[in-house]
Amino acid sequence: MNMTWEELESTCGQCRKCGLCETRTNVVFGVGNRSADVMFIGEGPGENEDLQGEPFVGRAGQLLDKMLAAVDLDRHTNIYIANIVKCRPPKNRDPEPGEQDACLPWLRSQVALVRPKIIVCLGRVAAMKLLKPDIKITREHGEFYERNGVLMMATLHPAALLRNPNNKPAAFEDFLKLRKRLDELHLAPAPGDFPF
Ligand code: URA
Repeated sequence: MNMTWEELESTCGQCRKCGLCETRTNVVFGVGNRSADVMFIGEGPGENEDLQGEPFVGRAGQLLDKMLAAVDLDRHTNIYIANIVKCRPPKNRDPEPGEQDACLPWLRSQVALVRPKIIVCLGRVAAMKLLKPDIKITREHGEFYERNGVLMMATLHPAALLRNPNNKPAAFEDFLKLRKRLDELHLAPAPGDFPF
């Protein structure tokens, strides 16, 4: 399936592949730079995201934006943000495995178009689905794994940090590690670049 962004966003916007379509206000497709080096993937839209049609615009999103800004990242310029499921699970419950599986092809197509060098999973649900089904995020956050030439890392979900602010320094360390990896990417000359 080689769709353009426009085709992908418009077909995804009409998706009825799982029951979440019955209760959504908006499909929350994704936001950001469609050629970013780094993609952040959350769990699913909450109430504010469902109403506004954009990922991470509630309290957790405000914290995420602050952490991103501290490492020179910004949702509108140098990253792309999406979720495992694009429609809000009622009462913000975890998305069910069948809902995640139904939605995953949309995310796969987004990743295929962005072609990020690094993918950051925000929280347990995204980390289990994309990185490691048995991940223990409290122990394994901040570790980089290579998957098909893409670096992947899981960090604590900003909503979890709001519930447990003691974990903010640990999560911030993950963002610093990410910054370092991104800086290293840009130090390496691209094929065809001459160092003189
Ligand atoms: N939490 C998520 O995982 N994604 C959002 O878009 C908002 C809150």
